[in-house]
Amino acid sequence: MDDLFDGELRVAVLGWGAIGRTVGLTLAAGDVPGASLVAVADNRRPPDCPVPIVPAAELAADVDLVVEAAGQSALAAHGEDYLLAGCHLLVVSVGALVDQDLVERLRAAGGDRLHLTTGAIGGLDLLRAATRAGPLDAVTLTTTKAPSSLVQFWMDDELRAKLLAGRQRVTAFEGPARLAVLKFPQSVNVAATLALAVGSWELVEVRVVADPAAEVNRHEIEVTGAAGRYRFSIENHPSPDNPKTSGIVPHAVLQNIAELVGWAQGRR
Ligand SMILES: NC(=O)c1ccc[n+]([C@@H]2O[C@H](COP(=O)([O-])OP(=O)(O)OC[C@H]3O[C@@H](n4cnc5c(N)ncnc54)[C@H](O)[C@@H]3O)[C@@H](O)[C@H]2O)c1
Repeated sequence: MDDLFDGELRVAVLGWGAIGRTVGLTLAAGDVPGASLVAVADNRRPPDCPVPIVPAAELAADVDLVVEAAGQSALAAHGEDYLLAGCHLLVVSVGALVDQDLVERLRAAGGDRLHLTTGAIGGLDLLRAATRAGPLDAVTLTTTKAPSSLVQFWMDDELRAKLLAGRQRVTAFEGPARLAVLKFPQSVNVAATLALAVGSWELVEVRVVADPAAEVNRHEIEVTGAAGRYRFSIENHPSPDNPKTSGIVPHAVLQNIAELVGWAQGRR
């Protein structure tokens, strides 16, 4: 990191929801040495926030890092301004980055201070290496979640009724990652994370399955390419606060913050 980081990493959180609240409370408790929570912005007025709630547009004032954990539209609305204000930005709503115009704006505003959480999955280092080693032949992601967490406004009556009834296993979507993140903006950020790791929104074929028996959010990833064949099976318990989100995600964000602190401290 740069001269912005001079002592304690001052962190602000955009979105005090399932992810932002755990991140914020953990930082406020001092459980990430070298980082502290200084401000929060949320559309609602959360009662248990230990630091000042400020308007989202003012969140970047006097902070080193903003953690976006509010949603795709919130990132599109504020991300560029946060980077222009000079701070680092850790993106949780990774699906928003399917919007190439947004990506260009973020890059121009401060691409070297833009960070993406690993979120609900891992193995990305290996997949990046495999992508570098030679062409990939196929990348598939099968995401299985509880039916009610997958209901979307664009679904026809029959599909919506099946998901709401929750009596049968249903394939709710099949298509490229580019479309998946638009169809399920809150549920398949993993497709975006994978697409960005392998450098293609079209190569990643996504299947979204609604399973009434699903007690975990399951992501099965299969990649074949010149360097080898890779299979990851990830089963995350859903967040008790938001079943669309896996409970691991705020801890991935906290790990990302700890790594930023460690990297910055190593350079000083
Ligand atoms: N990268 C990943 O692997 C991954 C995994 C799960 C969720 N996510 C994404 O992370 C984001 C947060 O998820 P969550 O489960 O915490 O959601 P949540 O709905 O529990 O919380 C979001 C919070 O942000 C607030 N908010 C929304 N828009 C805002 C705005 N413009 N200004 C201020 N506050 C705003 C809401 O009031 C809410 O409190 C979502 O976009 C979700 O899709 C990413």
